[in-house]
Amino acid sequence: SQCNVEGPYIAMTFDDGPHKEQTPRLLDMLKQRKLKATFFVCGNCVAEYPQIAKRIVEEGHEIASHSWSHPNLIPMSESAVRDQLERTHAIVKQATGVEMKMFRPPYGNFTQRQKNWAFATYGYRTILWDVDTLDWQHRNPARTESIALAQTRPGSIVLQHDIHKTTVDAMPATLDGLVAKGFKFVTVSELVAMDKPVAPKPKATPSPDGGKAPGTPAPGEKSEPGQK
Ligand code: NI
Repeated sequence: SQCNVEGPYIAMTFDDGPHKEQTPRLLDMLKQRKLKATFFVCGNCVAEYPQIAKRIVEEGHEIASHSWSHPNLIPMSESAVRDQLERTHAIVKQATGVEMKMFRPPYGNFTQRQKNWAFATYGYRTILWDVDTLDWQHRNPARTESIALAQTRPGSIVLQHDIHKTTVDAMPATLDGLVAKGFKFVTVSELVAMDKPVAPKPKATPSPDGGKAPGTPAPGEKSEPGQK
């Protein structure tokens, strides 16, 4: 859900598309600023808009799987989950030529067993997020911007959705704000490649600040998977 990196690197991620109007608008904004992002696409949307999926890849962004039709996978049978992943993998390969390497389960809902199986079967790393702008819920561009700017830190994976006009409306200010704070945009695969294991914590000793290690997120600071 986040990486430990040296340097101000972050990954902006956009889920649930491609969308006929909003994804091309977003791609224009990213292109203008020479910024890279990662798109977790749904197979049924790629089937509808293969040219937009192709454009995502041609413009240097990463494309990754978000299932075929966005179900909650946890209660589903292995064959139904397989169907969701396989069809999406095939349509993205057909539309873009890319063999995807990553998967984000809808709502963040995935069992450990499903996660292991997706890695063993497809080589998919399961990717969540540490910054949730809740863009899908409040549909308020100013809030999307303020959450992204307040919560993003080096190594963050920021969750947003390119199917909502209000999210894309928030992007010029959000992207420019993050650039102004010195963040460098990379794809999720690039961020994961930079990930360094966190050094083992020294033995807990009481300290004046109550023992909270620097950089440890406060309870409730990190959004729980479970939202869209
Ligand atoms: Ni989603």
